[in-house]
Amino acid sequence: MLTAKEIIDIYVSFFEKREHARILNSPLVPENDPTTLFTSSGMQPLIPYLLGEAHPQGKKLVNVQNCFRAQDIDEIGDNRHTTFFRMLGNWSLGDYFKQEQLPWFFEFLTKELGLPKEKLYLTIFTGSEGVPKDNESYEIWKSLGITKSHVFFYDVHKNWWSRSGTPEQMPINEIGGPDSEVFYEFTNVEHDKKFGEKCHPNCDCGRFLEIGNSVFIQYKKNSAGQLEELPQKNVDFGGGLERLLAAVENQNDIFQTNLFAPIIKSIEKATEKNYQNCKKEMRIIADHFVASAFIISNNIKPSNKEQGYILRRLIRRAFDNFHKLGGKDISPVLEKVVEQYKETDPDLPEKFEEIKNTISEEGQRYKQTLKIAKQFIAKRYPSTGSGQVTGDEIMGITEISPDDAFLLYTTHGLSPTQIKSLGYIFNEQDFAKKMKTHQDLSRKGAVKKFAGGLADHSEKTIMGHTATHLLHQAIRDLLGNNVHQAGSNITSERIRFDFNYDRNLTDMELSKIEKIVNEKIRENLPVHFEIMPLKKAKEIGAIGLFDDKYAEKVKVYFIGDYSKELCGGPHVDFTGKLKRFTILKHDNIGKGYRRIYANIGD
Ligand code: SER
Repeated sequence: MLTAKEIIDIYVSFFEKREHARILNSPLVPENDPTTLFTSSGMQPLIPYLLGEAHPQGKKLVNVQNCFRAQDIDEIGDNRHTTFFRMLGNWSLGDYFKQEQLPWFFEFLTKELGLPKEKLYLTIFTGSEGVPKDNESYEIWKSLGITKSHVFFYDVHKNWWSRSGTPEQMPINEIGGPDSEVFYEFTNVEHDKKFGEKCHPNCDCGRFLEIGNSVFIQYKKNSAGQLEELPQKNVDFGGGLERLLAAVENQNDIFQTNLFAPIIKSIEKATEKNYQNCKKEMRIIADHFVASAFIISNNIKPSNKEQGYILRRLIRRAFDNFHKLGGKDISPVLEKVVEQYKETDPDLPEKFEEIKNTISEEGQRYKQTLKIAKQFIAKRYPSTGSGQVTGDEIMGITEISPDDAFLLYTTHGLSPTQIKSLGYIFNEQDFAKKMKTHQDLSRKGAVKKFAGGLADHSEKTIMGHTATHLLHQAIRDLLGNNVHQAGSNITSERIRFDFNYDRNLTDMELSKIEKIVNEKIRENLPVHFEIMPLKKAKEIGAIGLFDDKYAEKVKVYFIGDYSKELCGGPHVDFTGKLKRFTILKHDNIGKGYRRIYANIGD
């Protein structure tokens, strides 16, 4: 039986044989990039290249990317969703297109993995928003011997892919396109009419499992809100490794594949319960501890902010379910998690102690939080005995207001289920409304978050990016080469730049930096990039964190002969476009780091 590692090896070598260069797995928590919380698909680190920047390793790429999708936390518990997963990916950056991609993936599935063609179903974009029906994919699938009854057409809700969803949901400058998905049919699973009269690939009953998605990234939302063709036609393929494993094993429950089954067994042992009777709980425990282990191994600690908050939610939810089943000691479960993943992620065992301690400490803190939350509610709703009845207490159950319930959610991180398990009831519809507003707001924030430190790819943001390189060099001119960028965030309104320095800069120093950058703007220096071996980039003194996240070949951006920096781009072609650079603010952000806010333009 194939293991996850074997599937990875087969996939990568299949595409290497077809002239794809293997790119490194980007960190799960993007480094040096405050604009995105987690890497959630293989294409995320490749956005500049899908937009037309040259990639140092060429136009055909392959990799396996560790991904985490926080939006799936609430879906965990069914047979196929996981928050952490590995995405097999191959890309054409304006090179091959449908005619190569679909037959290759088909060959990979049927010849390399041995999946029977009869079990494969295809979905294709039916056309809308001025984008035509994808007849080309249909013809290709037909020519591969797929029968008509195995092909389904869907609209933008199912066969369109962008990081933010349908064309309507795409913000300006977002890229996306129609896609063609492959599903595997588990013929042993009976259709459940609860999910609709007739079963079909996108039905949620569990008979079908999506195992791969070829996205034809061809469009960008322009500033008029319309889809505009990109200068190049790209392929962005992503296939969930855990799901491919399920298909290979003809096992419709991901949590029973050879990757997860030993983890589930360890949970059965620790809780003395049977998986068949507590599937949902055990799936949550397994998924959340796996995801937590990976997030912790990326140096994140539980907190109330950003990645730390997500980690906190995962650990607490895992504990809720673990304790509900009567589990006490989580160590054997965590040991199993590390064992199951060490073949593909060899640094996990080294971090075992840290993973275990972080999870246990958070478990303790959680207990404390529950205590405080109870005290808070007890104060707000003194019991009947006190003579001031503000909440109805019926046999140990207290009805609290949706506002207070929501406060427990936002300040103590307690989910509705956790709040209810403390013996509180509240108007759940009102709570859900509040939650929706809250989520819409965070979603808006999330859409803005963009890999590469840029909030979008508008012209102003690209100018800001070039200004950041000038700023970086100017800071080093003045403060020395030990000073380097520690993060950046660029929007069309302003540049935010963090760097290490042990004291605040004086006004004089700030105005000197400003002056240098403006000089370089006035000199109207040309900007260009060169792709070169990492060794050469070091030799010529390019700025960059030369750690192992860089592949052998790197891209170096030159601004005249003033600045040389490892960077994916994009940048303006001449610095004159920036017009003027102004420092707006300087802050001490703690731990030896400083921050500069600046803007550009007339
Ligand atoms: N980007 C697409 C996805 O995440 C395919 O890689 O599904």
